[in-house]
Amino acid sequence: MTHVVADPCINCKYTDCVAVCPVDCFHEGVNFLVIDPETCIDCGLCPPECPTTAIFAEEDLPDKWSDFTEINARYAPEWPVIDSQKEPMPEADAAAKEDDKTDQLSPDAFTG
Ligand code: F3S
Repeated sequence: MTHVVADPCINCKYTDCVAVCPVDCFHEGVNFLVIDPETCIDCGLCPPECPTTAIFAEEDLPDKWSDFTEINARYAPEWPVIDSQKEPMPEADAAAKEDDKTDQLSPDAFTG
């Protein structure tokens, strides 16, 4: 099993989750983070840290976000590891109030 980052992270990237991950399993895209299911040890530390409640144990992922298990697994090998907390995206506080942002998810890796 693994943990999964879902829709609420899109356009936010608060990265509080990264600060507590003991195994550096987060990977960074342009406007979203994913968890590498091959690296995640299911420690459970990150879900309570996320201000948008974007992270779920795979078995607890809401049905409406079931695609995110595959999205995390697909992009983790393509996007760079993020191993320290950084500033959220500029529009994070507004984006955190939006629902159903999946159509805004960028497939591109964050390049700095
Ligand atoms: Fe995203 Fe929440 Fe982490 S918004 S970057 S999953 S703290």
